Amino acid sequence: MRAMIKLALPLIALAMAMSCAKSREKTITWAVGKDPAGRHQAMIEEFQRLHPGVKVKLLEMPESSTSQHDAYVTYLAAGDKSIDVYSIDIIWPAEFAQAGWLLPLNDALASPEREDFLPGPLAGCTFRDTLWAIPWFTDAGMLYYRADILGKNHLKVPDTWEDLLKQASFLSKKYEMAGYVWQGQQYEGLVCNFLEILWSCGGELFGDNGQPLLTSKEALKATGIVKEMFNIKASPLGVLTYKEEESRQLFTSGQAVFMRNWPYAWAISQDTAKGSAVAGKVGMAPLPACLGETSSSCLGGWNLAVSRFSRNPELAKELLLFLTSYDSQKDFALKGGRLPTRISVYQDPDVLKLNPHYKDFYNSFITARPRPVRPDYPRISDFLQIGLHRIFTGQVPEDKGLLSLQEELEKSVVKECYQE
Ligand code: GLC
Repeated sequence: MRAMIKLALPLIALAMAMSCAKSREKTITWAVGKDPAGRHQAMIEEFQRLHPGVKVKLLEMPESSTSQHDAYVTYLAAGDKSIDVYSIDIIWPAEFAQAGWLLPLNDALASPEREDFLPGPLAGCTFRDTLWAIPWFTDAGMLYYRADILGKNHLKVPDTWEDLLKQASFLSKKYEMAGYVWQGQQYEGLVCNFLEILWSCGGELFGDNGQPLLTSKEALKATGIVKEMFNIKASPLGVLTYKEEESRQLFTSGQAVFMRNWPYAWAISQDTAKGSAVAGKVGMAPLPACLGETSSSCLGGWNLAVSRFSRNPELAKELLLFLTSYDSQKDFALKGGRLPTRISVYQDPDVLKLNPHYKDFYNSFITARPRPVRPDYPRISDFLQIGLHRIFTGQVPEDKGLLSLQEELEKSVVKECYQE
């Protein structure tokens, strides 16, 4: 009996020590959209290694920005304390800050550190002179093309929408594959894709006086380009159900000639281990424009914010600083293909070696245009998503559809904007 007790004592002591350590362990939760390159868990492990006694729980959200937005609004409006860090789309900081859901981060990211961040993402994270999120990675819409197919057909990379449509339609028929794939599902991605066409045809969503401009000839031209894509089979109708990953999978499996996507798709397209059938055959270029106009990319990107309801705000801020540090951004650029928000990372030799296009397209990346920075942007976007999808699926003719969008926006959002 005495021998048994002797044997059991060390085990009891070990169990007690473990339970004490557990009770000292701090846990924070990070809500973040699914990463196609699957890097989030590795980042967490590195943070935990540097912070013994800290555990970060990953709450993986759906890929779609719109679905994430709806879920976060539900959590935050209820004052949910179970999530400490949110990764938020560049279009939400104003809305979330105005609702009082985030902690200010002016001190967490102060000068001169702040000057290393790209001005566009910083501006998107700032509302009423306060920084509400730290830019994590940025995004800009780009054109991907099959360099091998264009080469064989002696075609130059299209820089007008007209040429893109012609080539996509011709090559799609010739190779029995999709021509131009993009993001046309009824969600935020559709708005980005549409704005890029509108802006690159000289149009604007709002005029200087805040009036919506959806009945302009440029808006009609932009919707006309999209309708024509389907008429001449430059794009399959299925595009109207695609988000980023559906179009990316089609392209990297070798079933599409052209694709509009964010820069993350580059790394996957070069990676045979991730199933790419097109490694070494892909090129990237700025998106086309209407004849005589300038190409335009929509500014996207994700940012890290601390919930006002977090029980561990200081630890949450540490996680933000870790994830947005030089080393983490470098790692994400190398292994996840994400565009850094720190200017210095674009000069890193390892990053440039693996992503030579960073140098060529730095200008496109940093001149990408923001969507309106205002608290009611998600409502504006909802109207656009529904109205544009109705037009593109043929439920309503372009002119009528644009007119109702114009009227809806005039009625519902413009006044609020000017009270802002
Ligand atoms: C990307 C962008 C984001 C945009 C979304 C639309 O995730 O980074 O800003 O809203 O795509 O699908």
